[in-house]
Parts: sequence; structure tokens; C-alpha cells
Amino acid sequence: MQKTSKTYELFLSVTPGLEEFAKEELKELIRYEFFNTIEFNNEAGLLLKSQDLFSLLTLIKYLKIPTRALLRVEEFKARDLPKLYKKLSKINWNDYIPTTDFEFKVSSHNSRLFDDRKIIKAAKDAIADYQKAQPFKAKYNELTWSHPPIIFIRFEEDMCQVSIDCSGERLDKRGHKIFTAKAPMRESLGAALIRFIDSNEEKGYTLLDPMAGSGTIVSEYLFQDQVNSKRHYNFENFPLFRKQAAQKVNILNDEIQRKALANDINRDNIKAIKENLEGFDLEVTHGDFFKMEELSENNLVIACNLPYGKRIKTQKNIHEFVNDFYAKAQKLGAKSAYAVMPETFIIDKKFKAMRSQRINNGGIWVQFVKVSYN
Ligand SMILES: C[S@@+](CC[C@H](N)C(=O)[O-])C[C@H]1O[C@@H](n2cnc3c(N)ncnc32)[C@H](O)[C@@H]1O
Repeated sequence: MQKTSKTYELFLSVTPGLEEFAKEELKELIRYEFFNTIEFNNEAGLLLKSQDLFSLLTLIKYLKIPTRALLRVEEFKARDLPKLYKKLSKINWNDYIPTTDFEFKVSSHNSRLFDDRKIIKAAKDAIADYQKAQPFKAKYNELTWSHPPIIFIRFEEDMCQVSIDCSGERLDKRGHKIFTAKAPMRESLGAALIRFIDSNEEKGYTLLDPMAGSGTIVSEYLFQDQVNSKRHYNFENFPLFRKQAAQKVNILNDEIQRKALANDINRDNIKAIKENLEGFDLEVTHGDFFKMEELSENNLVIACNLPYGKRIKTQKNIHEFVNDFYAKAQKLGAKSAYAVMPETFIIDKKFKAMRSQRINNGGIWVQFVKVSYN
């Protein structure tokens, strides 16, 4: 294991409401010996620290809940632009981003430097001058980046924190989805729903999403125990990462047979699901959920992301639709049914509904709601 005395810090950003799911996921992962040099700081949000940069960055590939992972590269006080320029031009950018195509995200609170345009201009000049003095190796021109690297510059009480985004495309973009339905669910929300179901059900259940859209929920179920090797992450381009001695990683052994069924009323969605999830133990059907016939599965769990719109195709009132969903799930012989829905949806008292904490899903506060039938 290659170690230096430097401690690296990785900040994970998480959708509001998914923090507990993200913490659970991390606790499970850093139990493994491979990651055990990572210190997980509960209080300062999801901040990971380690002297082992290889483990710290590799861990990113295993995370299903966070949206972004930012590697902190520098922290300093800067009250004026010349100081900012000076500090930024001293960062070893060639360790991280051997490219001239990068972007910035700036934020500032209670600080003298607050004008985005001026801060970005100073940062651009600093990096350009650094790269002129120390050109990166020509071989790096051949690297591909899923999204130009983003440099985060954050001011708080005149302290400037500089971080680099490690994933490129957001972490919840799994890379295996090519076709999407009209209102696709965020994969991180789907992964959290699967965690919620797994913590409430015995292993080995068959999952049916009767209104599957592009198949996010079933896909997260089938991929839950697998490392995401389908996509590229920007950190894999960081020369500092490439220099690290690679370690063998083999921790997620899926011993559970995961079987899923997906249904949707829309033919295009069916086509998308089939193409997205080719090769998995998945049955795909087309039709109206409310007209589905009883299934012979004896360990059936139903889960879906309900349409949130005020009016849906059936013209039913949305509350009626939700309760019809739970009634139909029972008729189909499910052990329990889960739905993602706005927290304002009302569920009939005859169903004993169990709600998760609220989650901010693109501006709408939603919950996972479980109804059990035995
Ligand atoms: C909110 S979207 C679900 C999105 C999905 N979770 C995803 O990530 O793509 C609702 C889906 O339900 C489907 N749908 C609506 N009413 C249905 C019904 N009665 N039977 C089957 N599917 C239905 C729509 O075609 C749509 O794909």
C-alpha cells in the first residue's frame, strides 16, 4: 500500500434526505479491509479522509447514493485577487487535470472576494500561467473526460477551499442507461429505495416495478451489489491517481439471486428497458398495471415511482390512484408494496403505511411509503 504523510480529503455531496442512506452505504463499504484506512466523519457531513489516495478515490466507484465526490486540493486565506492568483498558481494542477478544458463553480459567503467573474478570471489566469511554466505531458492529450473537470472554489469567511470534481458526469449517472423515459427517476433515489426495501424485507425477493418507466428501480435492484465498471470517472485520469500502486479490489460478491419484473403501459418505455438491461434476470411486460393478472411469484415485492402529476392518464384523482396502487399490489399477491410519492399524498387508513424520512427530489419533497399485507 503506497502511503504518503499527506492526508487527502474527499467530500461527498448527497441529495437532501438521502444522508442516512449514504452513511449506511459508506459504513458497509469501509468495513472491508481494502477501505479501512478511510476515516469517515459523520459530523462534518460526508467527509472522508485517508492517506491512501488509491482507496479513497477507488471507493467512488462503489458509491450508489452520493451525487458528486470532490477531492480537496488546497485551503488558504485570500482577501484579494492577487493573493488568490498567487495561491492558485502554486497548486500542482498537473497532478489532477492535465487538460486545458475545465470549468469552475464558485460560491462565497461572508468573504471579501465574492464576484464570480473576477474569481474565475484570476483562477483561469493562474492555471494558464502554471501550465505555461510546467506543460503537462503530451500523452495526456489523449485522455477522454466524460465531462470537463470542474474546479470548485468556495469562500467562507475569507478562507478559500479548492476542490476538484472526481466523477466527471454526476455519480448517479451509471453509464449503462442509453434510453430514458419522459420522467426518469434519479438513480441515486432508486438506489436509496432499494436500500430501504432491503432493510425491510428478507433477501431474495422478486421485485416488480409495474410502472417502470425506463427501468431505474429494477436496474438499481439488479446492480445493487455490483461495482460500477460500466463508466469512466474523471479521477482515473488524475496523474496522481495513475501513479498510485494499484491494489486488488474484490469486495462486492453478490451471493443473492436477484430477480426482477418490469411492466409499463408505454411501448417506448418497454423497448428502452429491454435495451438498457439486456442480459439481466429480468422479465419485461407491456400493459396496464391495474389490469395485470395475478403472478405466481411467492416472494413478491412491488415498488414504483408513482406519477406525480395532478392528472394522470386514467383521469383519476391522484390520491385515488395511490390507494388503487396499494389495493392492486395486494391483489397480485405481493408481500408488500413500496412507492415513491410526494409527502402530501394521502394513504387510506386501511393500509398500514410506513414512511421514510422526506427526500428532496428535484424540488419536490417525496417519501418512500411501505404498505405490508401480512
Ligand atoms: C413517474 S414515471 C416512473 C418513472 C420510472 N421510475 C423511471 O425511472 O423511469 C411513471 C411511469 O408509469 C407508467 N404508467 C402510468 N400509468 C400506468 C399504468 N396504469 N400501468 C402501467 N404503467 C403506467 C408511465 O408510462 C410511466 O413510464
